[in-house]
Amino acid sequence: MLTPQIYLKQQSPDHTQCDVVPVFQNAKGEPLYPQGGYGDLVKKLSEDQVFNGKTGSVVFLRYQGKKAAESVAFVGMGCPGHYAEWDGGLPGIEEKLRTVGGQIFHKLHVEKIQSACVHLDLFFESAQFEKSVSPPRAARLLSEGLILPAYEFKKYHTSKPGDTAAKSTKTAKKPMQISIYSKGKGTWAGIEAETARANAIGEAVAIARDWSNEPSNFGTPAYFADQCVALAKKYGLTCRILGEKEAKKENMNLFLAVGQGSERENKLVVLEYKPKNIKNPKKVGFVGKGVTFDSGGISIKPALRMEEMKHDMTGASTVVAATVLASLWRLPKHIITVIALTENMPSGKAIQPGNVVTARNGKTVEIVNTDAEGRLILADALDYIQDFNPDVVLNAATLTGAASIALGKICCGIMGNDEGLIERVQHASRQAGERLWPLPLYDQYFEDLKAEHADMRNVGNDSNGGTIRGGIFLKQFIRKGVSWAHLDIASTAWGISHLPYIPKKGASGLFVRTLAQFAENF
Ligand code: BES
Ligand code: MN
Ligand code: ZN
Repeated sequence: MLTPQIYLKQQSPDHTQCDVVPVFQNAKGEPLYPQGGYGDLVKKLSEDQVFNGKTGSVVFLRYQGKKAAESVAFVGMGCPGHYAEWDGGLPGIEEKLRTVGGQIFHKLHVEKIQSACVHLDLFFESAQFEKSVSPPRAARLLSEGLILPAYEFKKYHTSKPGDTAAKSTKTAKKPMQISIYSKGKGTWAGIEAETARANAIGEAVAIARDWSNEPSNFGTPAYFADQCVALAKKYGLTCRILGEKEAKKENMNLFLAVGQGSERENKLVVLEYKPKNIKNPKKVGFVGKGVTFDSGGISIKPALRMEEMKHDMTGASTVVAATVLASLWRLPKHIITVIALTENMPSGKAIQPGNVVTARNGKTVEIVNTDAEGRLILADALDYIQDFNPDVVLNAATLTGAASIALGKICCGIMGNDEGLIERVQHASRQAGERLWPLPLYDQYFEDLKAEHADMRNVGNDSNGGTIRGGIFLKQFIRKGVSWAHLDIASTAWGISHLPYIPKKGASGLFVRTLAQFAENF
């Protein structure tokens, strides 16, 4: 893990390896020469047709830095007049800054830069920036873009002598140190606060990714339950773990049914963050799907890419990381997070297609397809969290492959029983820079799930509306008057290659930010 730390500098930057300087263009595509001593160099680069400030281009010049810097990276910002107002559902200028942060990180990384200084005030030489984003917000967005791509999962690489590849965290490379330099102009405290919040995002999102990338032979239900104990200790949360005996007492038969074929014990974790000195804070309930490996069970999956099903606990890792983030941000909200950890395996003890199981809430379910297991464990976990009387319940789950069929890998799906809530989650996601899109949950969809021999079946008769069917199934377990939304993150959890600030392979860590932002706004 190589998450850089963003440091702040208010005084003139002292020794740094690299100055990072934005270069804008005018409407004709000509570069505008930045202030602060680099104008001549940019002029020369432009005359030599090496660099003209085009969007997305970054030039790195070694031993060309000014003052204490050894080198300089010029970042092409293009012409702000041409920025889209909206970029795929996100405020254009905000997404631009995250993107630029990602591009800067990649350049500094390949050039093996250990310390760099981003000249924040130079972004505000553009009138467009001045009017559409505040310096603290710009610092936050750039920092997110710098921090989020800086992640590697190298835990299981062995290192040969002389290798720089890190084997254990003890021998890991030092994180890149990036400072944001600004004269402040009265916004210094804000810049400082936003940069600290971005650092917290880096820390929390790395937890989510570490969990999801963990191979299932190590990343078992017991392992993640232990991780929760450790996180609780580190971040001042409370943690309670229910094993199979306790889950049985709670009548969580659907949850237990899914783990029945596995040698490993199911674990249900309740993780809580309570703000200090706040009377009657609002209570936000998070629920996460934690299938540590989804083989499909008796309805076994095909071999192709089955190895990716180690990340089928990403709903759980996402809500846990969001809880950690809420604690790092010291939100004045009470967060109750329930994750249902189990393994979906075929065996002589496994549930079989056609089995009927009684849910915690008393309804009976015919398990027609053992590969539709996420909704089964969530049904009991959702019922359980409602006993805590949260003001709102959000769940995250890699629930259906159909989410990618409907939405591609660009956004995740959101469904629920309260349009106002869905709008609020969407609003939080726009602030956080993550894309989600609503799908309908009309009661008519439940017709497809009516069963011959039980109250409902866990799948329909065909593959139509797969993501919605997952959602409408969950809705059967939401009590009257409870405001609830379900995020199907199966489309965005893994292998997101189109965002410059997200690692191209493995766990994306997406939607940790949205959930924490939602909790903040709520
Ligand atoms: N974990 C899968 C969904 C999934 C697929 C997540 C691909 C991430 C990437 C889920 O448990 C599942 O198997 N869903 C089935 C549902 C079907 C049987 C109704 C699916 O999507 O095929
Ligand atoms: Mn499955
Ligand atoms: Zn699954």
